[in-house]
Amino acid sequence: MTVRPGETRGRMPDRADATLTFIGRIHTPFVRRADCPRRGRPDGPLCRLLVDTAWRPALEGIEVGARIEVLYWMHLARRDLLRQVPAGASAALGTFALRSPVRPNPIATALATVVSVEADGLMVRGLDCVDGTPLLDIKPDFRPTEE
Ligand SMILES: C[S@@+](CC[C@H](N)C(=O)[O-])C[C@H]1O[C@@H](n2cnc3c(N)ncnc32)[C@H](O)[C@@H]1O
Repeated sequence: MTVRPGETRGRMPDRADATLTFIGRIHTPFVRRADCPRRGRPDGPLCRLLVDTAWRPALEGIEVGARIEVLYWMHLARRDLLRQVPAGASAALGTFALRSPVRPNPIATALATVVSVEADGLMVRGLDCVDGTPLLDIKPDFRPTEE
């Protein structure tokens, strides 16, 4: 894989330390990465968290209007860059100084608002991922609100 000037690659480890289970897929209007916003917005488009049948009972207790934290797997991202040049930037920064999807474990998070609770998942606003992105987890957002 190519690197841009200023970027550096690391050596990908030859072992895995954990396994993940995708709990569903995220459906968004964003067909390509270039269609996605850099960050989800509260007034962004409606997106569907389509939860696999086995995990649907785990949605119990989630209500319309709830703020949730969504974790997802940026399945189209490379994973080997130590330093990278963010889009629109002129200099490289370390991967852990960025929210880029390019990272050793391409886990993304977004705070979303539940618009409706469906039999097969949730309709939400606030996401920034490509249609079909694997869903990892859903948690209530317990962050204190600003006064
Ligand atoms: C900057 S990341 C931020 C992700 C998340 N909100 C976070 O902060 O952890 C969002 C960008 O990732 C890219 N992206 C979206 N879905 C992706 C996917 N499934 N695989 C790889 N890259 C993706 C798009 O370019 C999008 O603009």
